[in-house]
Amino acid sequence: MKDEVDTREDRVANLKGMGCSRKRVEDARFTQGKGNYVDDIKLDGMLFGDFVRSPYAHARITSIDIEEALKVPGVLAVLTAADLEPLGLHWMPTLAGDKQMVLADGKVLFQGQEVAFVVAEDRYAAADGIEAVVVEYEELPVIVDPFESLKSDVVLREDTVGEDSAPIDGAHGPRKHHNHIFTWEAGDKAPTEEVIANAEVVAEETMYYHRTHPCPLETCGCVASMDKVNGKLTLWGTFQAPHAIRTVVSLISGIEEHNIRVISPDIGGGFGNKVGAYPGYVCSVVASIVTGKPVKWIEDRMDNLMTTAFARDYWMSGKISATPEGKITALRCQVTADHGGFDACADPTKFPAGFMNICTGSYDIPTAYLEVDGVYTNKAPGGVSYRCSFRVTEAVYFIERMIEVLAIELGMDAAELRRINFIKKEQFPYKAALGWEYDSGDYHTAWDKALKAVDYDALRAEQVQRVEDFKAGKTRKLMGIGLSFFTEIVGAGPVKNCDILGLGMFDSCEIRIHPTGSAIARLGTISQGQGHATTFAQILASEIGLPADSITVEEGDTDTAPYGLGTYGSRSTPVAGAATAMAGRKIRAKAQMIAAYLLEVHDDDVEFDVDRFVVKGAPEKFKTMKEIAFAAYNQAIPGIEPGLEAVSYYDPPNMTYPFGAYVCVMDIDVDTGVPDIRRFYALDDCGTRINPMIIEGQVHGGLTEALAVALGQEIAYDNMGNVKTGTLMDFFLPTAWEVPNYETDFTVTPSPHHPIGAKGVGESPHVGGVPCFSNAVQDAFRAFGLRHTNMPHDHWRIWKTANELGLHG
Ligand code: CDP
Repeated sequence: MKDEVDTREDRVANLKGMGCSRKRVEDARFTQGKGNYVDDIKLDGMLFGDFVRSPYAHARITSIDIEEALKVPGVLAVLTAADLEPLGLHWMPTLAGDKQMVLADGKVLFQGQEVAFVVAEDRYAAADGIEAVVVEYEELPVIVDPFESLKSDVVLREDTVGEDSAPIDGAHGPRKHHNHIFTWEAGDKAPTEEVIANAEVVAEETMYYHRTHPCPLETCGCVASMDKVNGKLTLWGTFQAPHAIRTVVSLISGIEEHNIRVISPDIGGGFGNKVGAYPGYVCSVVASIVTGKPVKWIEDRMDNLMTTAFARDYWMSGKISATPEGKITALRCQVTADHGGFDACADPTKFPAGFMNICTGSYDIPTAYLEVDGVYTNKAPGGVSYRCSFRVTEAVYFIERMIEVLAIELGMDAAELRRINFIKKEQFPYKAALGWEYDSGDYHTAWDKALKAVDYDALRAEQVQRVEDFKAGKTRKLMGIGLSFFTEIVGAGPVKNCDILGLGMFDSCEIRIHPTGSAIARLGTISQGQGHATTFAQILASEIGLPADSITVEEGDTDTAPYGLGTYGSRSTPVAGAATAMAGRKIRAKAQMIAAYLLEVHDDDVEFDVDRFVVKGAPEKFKTMKEIAFAAYNQAIPGIEPGLEAVSYYDPPNMTYPFGAYVCVMDIDVDTGVPDIRRFYALDDCGTRINPMIIEGQVHGGLTEALAVALGQEIAYDNMGNVKTGTLMDFFLPTAWEVPNYETDFTVTPSPHHPIGAKGVGESPHVGGVPCFSNAVQDAFRAFGLRHTNMPHDHWRIWKTANELGLHG
């Protein structure tokens, strides 16, 4: 038999388990155009719905006339808030405890807001119908600045004030002003302020982390199909959290959850954009119920950029104190968070500013205080974690800029300043001043490896020479060395701390082993390009001893998958990956009993070895997992039920804390403002590595999105609330032209509480990459007196910085 002649090494290789750079099983269909995305779904008689959107950022609606639209050939219905109101569906709950208009109810609060939903036979008829709807608006004062909003007499949301015009308490407590949403604090205010007041060195800075957008290649959309005969609603959609969407749809529609089937088919990128619920989903469901036909709604690019969930938009002011030798003593952070017209942030309930309280970063800072104020403005709602765990990109950008500013204040090398202040290996598990307990880390080793790899001292020497050459008129190019060291916090996450709309943030895996020794694993997560079908099979292969190639991974169908909270915030590996390992271990435990029975020994006398159970001390006596699987279905084993299945719902005891050390070397042409990235080195530590090739791909993708955000990507508004970057002509999406060669590296510091020691990785490169690119730009100008300049560093802004520093003569 083949099993008997293979070496142990061959058997390990045959499994393609953890640590193997297994090729992505998804790629066969993706590279051949055989993916099945929402827009590929075509059902008999399917209609198309699309929105009439507001051209104004703030206006009262005086009338909506749909008569002409209904005469347009192919238009079947036009829904307005008045149609949804009797059903109680004109407003819907947001994930942040606020509520949001589904269709404009009396007024609009941002440009592009959904005003009416035209249902037609096809997309073209819907577009013609939209043109024929006549909406009359009465313009209102527009507020796009959160600071102005907090001073303004203009009430943006009439539903947030009482009869006496005083603000009503919000979902997160009392509100200071009618346009204020919440105040969220962490840490100790008085002690922090005292340390800073008495410190010998204090660096202060205010920075704006501009508004941007996840901009997945596939926009958001859905197909709703109400089967009135059986009372079943099927909803296909670009959902990062299909089960949560099913629950939300059930709660707001009154349809019982067992009668709703939510399916996330292939998804073309999410990056946080596809976590929340959008008016398009509600309107499609209503339209399907009204017409009795399936209804599709798919955004175009402008809809996506202008109206679905934005990211960032944080004004962050910091104070950091230190001894003259550079030991940090305290950190204070004040954030004014622009949430737009509705608070539709996607954060765990108890964290209205996400995990911004990870803003002490990778440093041992004894005292800290954070205060975040959420504010309404006339901008689109959102506030999602664009390729990061909840607000962690903001937090890491903040601390990595504060470190650079402190280095300037101290006249110190920024790499050395980081080294002096890193949390030491022996301090883990480390309780940070703002509340988190970091599970594991070895920052000094990673930092030393990174600096050595790039020959940091030589780079600094080259930079000094470059400054001299520039001053001597020998070159017009400056050189920046961008550094960043980040700690992510991923894997939400413990249920006791983290829920969304009251749903605890556990995740799940259900495994069925078939008689012939192949298997199907179903999970509560959903891949959007991360390669879950490849890597979760690898976890299982190592846990249950069946080849990854014999394991199908299925996600995204609420009728078949166990309940889970979905994929975002790099939570899949830390939570669903752990559930997969735990379910695998249940399979293995039962397999052990079956093996012992077949081998006629006691359960404790067999042990697992790669792909089989072996009698201890007698390696020639074994039963392979394939044989055991068959026996589970064809033998009557006393005391053991037939079959081989298991399910695990995993509630992680803590988050996982991946980290990394990045270095970017950049030349900047002072006269054109064009940066040239000469080198980018990225060291990531995500604990146990499941698939090194997929990790590398994730790092490349995350860095490229970081490059985009740092060097040009933004959602910008003018004073009238018009979106200035609503198309890909203006919204920077990098291509191969802008992307440098990335050098990737790693260290391995396993998570002590995760069953296989893995931490997340998908978002780390974005979190660490943004400050690294930004620091490189800013470092290039350090010798000429620059302390801080805001992102995005597009060519114009870089040129302007050079100009303001007097570098154009
Ligand atoms: O939640 P999401 O899938 O976005 O992020 P993730 O958990 O960081 O995983 C992204 C991809 O990297 C998945 O295919 C993981 O299985 C893989 N990965 C890995 O191979 N090893 C790790 N330690 C972490 C993630």
